[in-house]
Amino acid sequence: MKKLIAGNWKMNGSWAETRNLTENILKGIEADPSLEDTCDLVIFPPFIHIGVAKEMLTEADSPLTYGAQDCSFNGNGAYTGDTSAYMLRDFGCEYVILGHSERRQYHGETNETVKSKAAVAHSEGLKAIICIGEQESERESGAEKDVVGSQLLESLPESATILNTVIAYEPVWAIGTGKTATPDDVKDMHEFIRKKLVERLEIAENMRILYGGSMKPDNAKKLLATPNVDGGLIGGASLDAEAFLAIARAA
Ligand code: 13P
Repeated sequence: MKKLIAGNWKMNGSWAETRNLTENILKGIEADPSLEDTCDLVIFPPFIHIGVAKEMLTEADSPLTYGAQDCSFNGNGAYTGDTSAYMLRDFGCEYVILGHSERRQYHGETNETVKSKAAVAHSEGLKAIICIGEQESERESGAEKDVVGSQLLESLPESATILNTVIAYEPVWAIGTGKTATPDDVKDMHEFIRKKLVERLEIAENMRILYGGSMKPDNAKKLLATPNVDGGLIGGASLDAEAFLAIARAA
């Protein structure tokens, strides 16, 4: 299975910076065609800048694809401020990130919300990257598997298949902090997620499970070589084209 290397740009960048970053990533991929054989690459600009990526990627005919950081729980209609899965698909997005811990924390998203959004995303033909991960206090109290297990099972809609769903394990305490889970902890948690997936879906052996949380060029090789780690969801380092490409090369 090819690794999936995904750059979550979060709420960063001006229009000009987005163009610049996209252009530098495109140049890096063009200069190293072997990247395409070893991994799938996708970027997630903020909503307002997805059009920049769409225009530049279409023009460059690049293997780099793009997606959105969230979508609405419902179809088109009277939902001020929301963006529907239909609109994202129509705009050429391949993936949508759902249930990121920042959405859960700042927008009160629950497993139920994430499940509804994933079902709508699937019905529009989008691939959902469903994020799960424990807080530091939950790990300290030994509850990390209970938390991650219930987030996983309660966020997955009936429509989930290996083709339309990717799981991203992002321990909340490792996001943007420079702390990463140890390769042993990652191995243990990814094995646990795989087991839960296999119990729930028959062919989940092939469902991608990404790791996210302070993945950088210097730790990517070890993390990406860990069993059941099928790629990375990268925040901070994906805002630097060289760092993002170095992580892709490590894959
Ligand atoms: P960092 O790589 O900045 O820790 O962010 C990870 C993340 O939240 C990706 O979705």
